[in-house]
Amino acid sequence: MNTNGKDRRKGIILAGGLGTRLFPLTISVSKQLLPVYDKPMIYYPLTTLMLAGIHNILIISTPESLPLFERLLGDGGKWGLAISYAPQQRPEGIAQAFLLGADFIGDDPIALILGDNIFYGDNLPELLRDISERTGVQTIFGYPVANPEAFGTVTVGDNGQIVDLLEKPGNPLSNLAVPGLYFYESDVVEVAAALKPSARGELEITSVNRTYFERGTLRVEILGRGWAWLDSGTHDTLLEASQFAKVMESRTGLKIACPEEVAYRMGFIDDGQLRKLANSLSHNEYGHYLLGLLDSKR
Ligand code: DAU
Repeated sequence: MNTNGKDRRKGIILAGGLGTRLFPLTISVSKQLLPVYDKPMIYYPLTTLMLAGIHNILIISTPESLPLFERLLGDGGKWGLAISYAPQQRPEGIAQAFLLGADFIGDDPIALILGDNIFYGDNLPELLRDISERTGVQTIFGYPVANPEAFGTVTVGDNGQIVDLLEKPGNPLSNLAVPGLYFYESDVVEVAAALKPSARGELEITSVNRTYFERGTLRVEILGRGWAWLDSGTHDTLLEASQFAKVMESRTGLKIACPEEVAYRMGFIDDGQLRKLANSLSHNEYGHYLLGLLDSKR
């Protein structure tokens, strides 16, 4: 392992799907544009990639929803990012993201995050930057959950090595779910291209991980009790995610997943750019918060 991946890594946010679990909310609105407390859901995975030091981001969604994401995020320049867009005609599997994003990925390492996954933890930026700079290995995460049967799971041996990976196992032998954030090398495009659709007709992300597991190059980082990982794909988990953000933000006075703040703290934008963004939102609490970031620096 070396650290030649520094600053070359790109990111994909997969924000498509039919959202049927959230009907009727998502009949006319993309799930990843729904509010999680005070901001659109996609701000959460977007800022997770930003905290990993990633600037160059591809958003994949349905042809109908892409213009709405574009209206929200533009080309990313306002936050020091380069954001591009690609349609997914049908939800044919998470791993299809690598085929749709093949030209975007080129020869660079890539992080994929699902548009409904929310991560929160004290040393998140440090951990993500460390992982992002690794080369020669692929990294997934493991997070203890009460209902592992609802997720991809990973079984880990005493030495921290992966023993097995399963997608939504009927009888889970592990309580570690695999969250929707994955770090690969550019050869993930070939790995995805070699996959056959599963019984449910999808190119499975767990099959990608299994390929690397069998090659011996897959690592797992266990996120312990000090972490929150939430997926906001059902009515209950969507409400829980909003409640979580509300509790954390009200208690600390600090926002979670505020792209303007992350861009500023990561050095993607300067004081002048933040002031311009804040002024365009200054008539509400969000704009006041951004102005406060400038004041707190003085
Ligand atoms: O949230 C983590 C879990 O995500 C992992 O533990 C599982 O291994 C992984 O398969 C996935 O499980 P889900 O049941 O949550 O997958 P779902 O089909 O709901 O898709 C996850 C998100 O990706 C969802 O917001 C919709 C989007 N998506 C999904 C597919 C299959 C797309 O945009 N396009 C697709 O083709």
